[in-house]
Amino acid sequence: MQNLSQSSSDAKNVYCCSLGSTDLEEILKIENEVYTHPWTRGNFLDSFAEPYEAIGLRSNNGTLVAYFLLMPILDELHLLTFAVHPQYQGQGYARLLLEEMRRLAKSKNYLSIMLEVRISNLRARHIYQQFGFVEIGRRKGYYPVDQLTREDAIVMRIATSDSANLG
Ligand SMILES: CC(C)(COP(=O)(O)OP(=O)(O)OC[C@H]1O[C@@H](n2cnc3c(N)ncnc32)[C@H](O)[C@@H]1OP(=O)(O)O)[C@@H](O)C(=O)NCCC(=O)NCCS
Repeated sequence: MQNLSQSSSDAKNVYCCSLGSTDLEEILKIENEVYTHPWTRGNFLDSFAEPYEAIGLRSNNGTLVAYFLLMPILDELHLLTFAVHPQYQGQGYARLLLEEMRRLAKSKNYLSIMLEVRISNLRARHIYQQFGFVEIGRRKGYYPVDQLTREDAIVMRIATSDSANLG
């Protein structure tokens, strides 16, 4: 357990923790419920073998409420996956997780966080924008929709240091 974002986490009776392969079954259960194209067990195991930041929120009864995975690229963190347990959605946990992400980036001196989001994912886009992420580009046909169709990604970034250049 980590003593992170104590005040906001306490208000919601959750705590932050590092995640690894022992948490995989819980992560996959959420991942498979919330994504049309979920990450596989292999994707997660590969990520856990890397020096990525895998952070979860657990409720005081131990349930995994939400998680994210960040890949460092030089002075930037790239958000790889980010999800809230279906039963805990709409209660502000995404925002709490984003606050945690920013706190972590600052504490490790990363200048920014970058992410891609499906153009159709209005909910996630709204949350990212509310939090301060700005659109910096688009990737045409980045995500599969079905066997015949693909959709664009919106690329967003937020500065996590006053000196970050968001060009
Ligand atoms: C996107 C996701 C992380 C949001 O988690 P959450 O805990 O429900 O989000 P929060 O409760 O913190 O915030 C909900 C916000 O979305 C808004 N919202 C809800 N549905 C919306 C919609 N269809 N369009 C736009 N905004 C919407 C709410 O009004 C609220 O905004 P507000 O705080 O300004 O009122 C969660 O729905 C999820 O896990 N989705 C599946 C995985 C995913 O899409 N991850 C992002 C990949 S880039």
